[in-house]
Amino acid sequence: MQFEKIALNPEPKQIHDQIEEVVNTLVRGYDTLMGTLGLGGRKGDYDDVNYEFNGGAKDELRKKHYDKSLRLLWKAEGNTPWLSFRDCTSEELALLSMAEKSLNRDELRELKRVRSEDFRRQIQEEYTQAERQAIVNVLSTIGHGEAYAWMVSTELLNEVKSTGARSALTMQVLEEAKHFVVLRELIQAFDCPIPRLTVWEYVLLEQGFKSKGLEKFFAMNVLVEGFALSIFGMLSTLPGLEILRLFHLDESRHTGLPANYFKEFPMSEWEKRNPISQVRRLGLILPVLPLMTALESDLAELGIDTFEFVGSTARKILNLMDRVGFTLPIDNATFATILNGAFNAYTSVSRVDYEEKDFLVAETTKGKAELEVEAEVFRLREAAAAAALAAAQNGGGRRNVRPAA
Ligand SMILES: [Fe+2]
Ligand SMILES: [Fe+2]
Repeated sequence: MQFEKIALNPEPKQIHDQIEEVVNTLVRGYDTLMGTLGLGGRKGDYDDVNYEFNGGAKDELRKKHYDKSLRLLWKAEGNTPWLSFRDCTSEELALLSMAEKSLNRDELRELKRVRSEDFRRQIQEEYTQAERQAIVNVLSTIGHGEAYAWMVSTELLNEVKSTGARSALTMQVLEEAKHFVVLRELIQAFDCPIPRLTVWEYVLLEQGFKSKGLEKFFAMNVLVEGFALSIFGMLSTLPGLEILRLFHLDESRHTGLPANYFKEFPMSEWEKRNPISQVRRLGLILPVLPLMTALESDLAELGIDTFEFVGSTARKILNLMDRVGFTLPIDNATFATILNGAFNAYTSVSRVDYEEKDFLVAETTKGKAELEVEAEVFRLREAAAAAALAAAQNGGGRRNVRPAA
């Protein structure tokens, strides 16, 4: 390449460089001092000298959460063509259906209208009005949660260290945005009133959003997304809700992020066991219990025992907490026993045919692929092996109650 060079005198540039050096030392020195004193300083958590975010490259995090998310990125238009999304490229559309390629825009719009009506008809045929409303009530708890997941991950993006973790959170922000808008249209297609947040979920999500720093990982990625993962796993085999499998896959990556992050930037023992954080974590979990009671009749309409669901979810989330290092004021085994006792106490009153159960051994995720994904995310096989070993060493097993179905 030939450039027509412009001749310059070297002195002005040399003078500029000297001035810049002095001003740079003063400005950055001032920012460093203010930062050290906790009075402000540089806002951007970025290391321009090394062309890296503070914390370094951490390519493993990038590969597991950014590269993988992009590989698995799914488009709403391709999976739910009856919704209003236009997010496929023309090549993707051509691949989806060679026949549709020959349709003009009006014909395509008509095809989408027909598919939308097909979807609505399928929903009408598969479910009664009460079942449709129950699905909307259950799914909208996650729909509202997706709005908070979007907001929390946007804030977490500025809390994590390293280029790898930022790229991971950037993909999570994108996926939460997609979850919110796609799930909203899917729920609207059921043509049922969509309930507001119950106060229990409102408190849970607001407190989670207000969590300080990396405690947001507990509130959102472990607790709320562990709960969402379980709901998607429970409903993804229902007719018309197959797209929830894709949500389930995304959420599995989100729930896996804290463990991968803390592998690179371990929490201190104080961060894991500080009593104030432990009590706050317990305070976040508690609203889930009345929330599940609020959903009991909707889940019962779908043939699901709400306490089997929450027992199944609690078992997985407690495993994940162990793995990540988030502790509670009481040990997880004792907490699980208390939960089981509370569920039995409540169901002894709420159920017509009550029978004592061990709700914490229930499994409410249905799909084979979803079970495989959860076994990996929550390390369920390792946990089951450890529980079996502990039971063998104690010469017995868990309490002599009927396992939940
Ligand atoms: Fe999500
Ligand atoms: Fe998520």
